[in-house]
Amino acid sequence: MNIKDELNKLTKYTEGLLEKYLPSDDSDLSMIYEAMRYSLLAGGKRLRPILMLSSYRACGGSGADIEPFMCAIEMIHTYSLIHDDLPAMDNDDLRRGMPTNHIKFGEAAAILAGDALLNKAFEITSSAEYSDPRRALNAIAYLSAASGTEGMIGGQVLDIDAENRNITLDELKRIHSLKTGALIRAACVTGGIMAGADETRMSALRDYAVNLGIAFQIRDDILDVTGSEAELGKPIGSDAESGKNTYVSICGIERSEELVSEYTEAAERALATFGENGTFLTELARYLVKRRK
Ligand code: IPE
Ligand code: IPE
Ligand code: MG
Ligand code: MG
Ligand code: MG
Repeated sequence: MNIKDELNKLTKYTEGLLEKYLPSDDSDLSMIYEAMRYSLLAGGKRLRPILMLSSYRACGGSGADIEPFMCAIEMIHTYSLIHDDLPAMDNDDLRRGMPTNHIKFGEAAAILAGDALLNKAFEITSSAEYSDPRRALNAIAYLSAASGTEGMIGGQVLDIDAENRNITLDELKRIHSLKTGALIRAACVTGGIMAGADETRMSALRDYAVNLGIAFQIRDDILDVTGSEAELGKPIGSDAESGKNTYVSICGIERSEELVSEYTEAAERALATFGENGTFLTELARYLVKRRK
């Protein structure tokens, strides 16, 4: 399997779905749709929908039941980025290679576009037709909890609270597991839920995603120092400027790189029970270790 070709294919598939679930609008509300679509369709790796679809397929899922959830998680992720970039949070002016939402549309529109994407996510998942609606209800419950105070929002709260003071590596690990790990975990687990996976597989997916999520955010911390703005499509040096605690600020680049490999190996080990069906998820984890964007 050529992982890059496969990722390109899955990215195109995801972007087709996003276009379908968030069409443009020419009413007097066109401005808010434009602001939502601006950030949602700006590119990005589409990692969470791809992880979700791949987890679904690894558990034997097929058909379109997963599609509203793929869009929903990318909408929630995009909303989290729009708000993360606001002056009151990380105060960044570049995202996905373009001016951030608040730079382009103003702060009020950016706040509302983020809110609207979050609501759209739950509108589309709760109003779609499913072959097994109970699974969808469970997946909605999981996704909403992972996006909230016990998940992504909780991590963002702790991340902001820890600015400009020293915290331990354990505290930082908890922040990373929540602010970034929770949605990555939700991607894999909701994929499993929608495929009707048994508990052995659900637990393997959870274990994979928990480790992958931490590896992914450590790599993000590293790229904030060693990356290039042109490749990343977002500013470098933003963490130091905001007084953030990161794996790099606490353990240095070299140890952070080792930790990315260690967490990735743990993620790979978790997939043993999938045999050949876990090949793509394994390859994806390996690919992300060296990612430049
Ligand atoms: C950026 O996420 C924010 C983090 C959680 C580290 P991604 O690196 O997945 O950003 P996109 O979706 O590719 O733009
Ligand atoms: C972002 O972490 C986590 C969320 C958006 C929930 P960062 O603040 O490190 O992400 P980037 O570096 O701005 O993409
Ligand atoms: Mg942040
Ligand atoms: Mg940020
Ligand atoms: Mg970052």
